[in-house]
Amino acid sequence: MKTLDAFLDDSSTDAPLAEVILRLASCCEAINNQLQRGELAGILGSAGADNVQGETQKKLDVIANDMLKDALKACPEVRGIASEEEDEVVGANLDGRYLVTYDPLDGSSNIDINSMVGTIFSVLESGERGSAVSEAEFLQPGRAQKAAGYVLYGPSMMLVFSTGNGVTMFTFDPEQSAWLQTVERVELDSDTKEFAINMSNHRFWAEPMRNYIDDLLKGSDGPRGKNFNMRWVAAMVADVHRILCRGGLFTYPWDARKPDQAGKLRLMYEANPMGLLVEQAGGEAWTDSGKILDIQPEKIHQRVPVILGSANEVMCCVGYHAGSDV
Ligand code: AHG
Ligand code: MN
Ligand code: MN
Repeated sequence: MKTLDAFLDDSSTDAPLAEVILRLASCCEAINNQLQRGELAGILGSAGADNVQGETQKKLDVIANDMLKDALKACPEVRGIASEEEDEVVGANLDGRYLVTYDPLDGSSNIDINSMVGTIFSVLESGERGSAVSEAEFLQPGRAQKAAGYVLYGPSMMLVFSTGNGVTMFTFDPEQSAWLQTVERVELDSDTKEFAINMSNHRFWAEPMRNYIDDLLKGSDGPRGKNFNMRWVAAMVADVHRILCRGGLFTYPWDARKPDQAGKLRLMYEANPMGLLVEQAGGEAWTDSGKILDIQPEKIHQRVPVILGSANEVMCCVGYHAGSDV
């Protein structure tokens, strides 16, 4: 099996970009070591503070953020970072070529129940050099991403990423302390009988999403003419990983609990990287009105509605929204 280094060499990944990916992978190994020790490492529970988005930070959100920030600042190729857990963009090396956005710990509510969590990353290129990094450099559409991926901390640790030429999967072998390629190229099925949504928000959704899900629930007696299964891990990394492995639709739509917020998930370090992976695997990634990767970001912590996964199912869901305002 191919190691991560060998894959990056063989695929002629630009050396500075390969360096960023290797630093991210090695930092995630360190985060995984903390997760494996769990309570023993004193990493569970709340950090006693809120992030800029008003969400309570878990200790591990802060620890993972600091570990990634330190690792990326130490990488000469990185010019700046933007993180879910940082209010503003953070400068790294003035002459670095790349900007990295990340969700250090995705699925925070799973930390204290010893369930699956992940790290999501997106790499952009900056045209600027020498000057202090600014938020404006980061505001590029998802289609401009040079690389994107995630690490899933599950029964085994996996690294899944794309540099714009398909999606590949690596599994970490603790015996050799090496990442080994276990799926060369991910091919996402176009059709599915499985969906992922937090059903408890049903009454808060806009009508098109309610109608779509209600029709799925009618199963073989309804307009879809087949029975659907449902899964919800409450960690986007784990839900998207399942979809890349066996197909499915994942959505976190706008809802009336916070009507002024476009959705729950963040464009620049959740929707865009996952959107790139899903498109690169042959699937679709949409808001309720357009492709996620075409959105021109207005701020680093911007939120968007997300509908992604198996192409035909995503387009069916988007079809319910056609002609409606939400
Ligand atoms: P984070 O832990 O980084 O804030 O992200 C959590 C996100 C996403 O991973 C998941 O799909 C969703 O929130 C779960 O939301 P609910 O708790 O509303 O189900
Ligand atoms: Mn997240
Ligand atoms: Mn997070």
